[in-house]
Amino acid sequence: MTDVRRWDVPGRVNLIGEHLDYNGGPVLPMAIDRTVTVKARARDDGTVNVWSDLPGAAKVSFAVTVQPGEVDGWAAYVAGTVWSLADRGHAIPGADLVIESRLPAGAGLSSSAATTCGVASALDDLFSLGLGTDDVALVAQHAEAGYVGAPVGLMDQLAVLHGAAEQAVLIDTAVTPHTTTPVALGWEADGLVLAVIATGAHHALADGEYAARRDECERAAAELGLERLAQAGLDATVMLADETLKARTRHVLTETARVRGAVTAIGRRAWPQLGTILTASHASLRDDFEVSCPELDVAVEAALEAGALGARMTGGGFGGSAIALVPPEKVQALRERVEVRYEQHQWKRPEVFVVHASDGAHRVPDTGARLGG
Ligand code: GLA
Repeated sequence: MTDVRRWDVPGRVNLIGEHLDYNGGPVLPMAIDRTVTVKARARDDGTVNVWSDLPGAAKVSFAVTVQPGEVDGWAAYVAGTVWSLADRGHAIPGADLVIESRLPAGAGLSSSAATTCGVASALDDLFSLGLGTDDVALVAQHAEAGYVGAPVGLMDQLAVLHGAAEQAVLIDTAVTPHTTTPVALGWEADGLVLAVIATGAHHALADGEYAARRDECERAAAELGLERLAQAGLDATVMLADETLKARTRHVLTETARVRGAVTAIGRRAWPQLGTILTASHASLRDDFEVSCPELDVAVEAALEAGALGARMTGGGFGGSAIALVPPEKVQALRERVEVRYEQHQWKRPEVFVVHASDGAHRVPDTGARLGG
């Protein structure tokens, strides 16, 4: 019987700590109960074939020596991972891969990290490459930065690898390798849920805005004589002359404080306080970091109008998803409120669903899974 390895990898929402992972700050994501499945079978002819259940996705084939620019679209994340493995000294002889997703792509829920981490984990498993979790995260990040062209931090990869049921993952990016600490979440026991509002608006991480923010943060840190912007003290905002750099720095400093406050609030089960912190994070991302968009702002406003304790955009921004902490009996009202507000703007109907903190990437026993022919 042909050896098939199957890995399930969740998406993530970031509870708080946005745009801090490349600034040396703390971030607090959680893995969610929507996954990408990767099935892998070995080949020895230097070829990689990939099938996907994404709408309209045809089979894609490329050589194991694939280079940046040769594969684009959804398969670039797969080709990028094969390239990244080889670039880091882990060339593979060939593979058949099947990618199945129950994670909406482009919704800011890290379908890309789930795919790259899933492919890296499955190939590591299949060919005994000996990668540890940190290596898988770095391979996946290198695939996005070096192949797809999105200079992302490590939050998403670490979240989808280290997530656990009923826990968030506190990641300290001030140290290398970043440390991860589980944070127990108790809001469900106290009658609350986390709702996602997938706006359907374009999520343009690779379009230059993300890289532009990252560049601004690096410039602000350099002007302040710091290695990373999260090391700045409160005086930084008066030291900087440029208004844009000042605003970006204000976000990084206040968001760092909010992550600490959120961890304390979660520990105390102080949910209204957590809600206030989430909503304040959104205002900072909208006004100081300028990575929100009208669809996200309206989603947050509508969630608060419907009785959420707090709401914010999650992920890189410019589209994607918002999250809201809300009593379950108000989720339907929230959905209706967001739909009404979106209709007024003649925007596409958003998707609203509840997510639960879930286990990170794991191998699933092969149940005779069939790979495409
Ligand atoms: C994207 C990136 C992450 C992180 C967030 C913003 O999700 O992949 O590394 O920078 O944006 O917090």
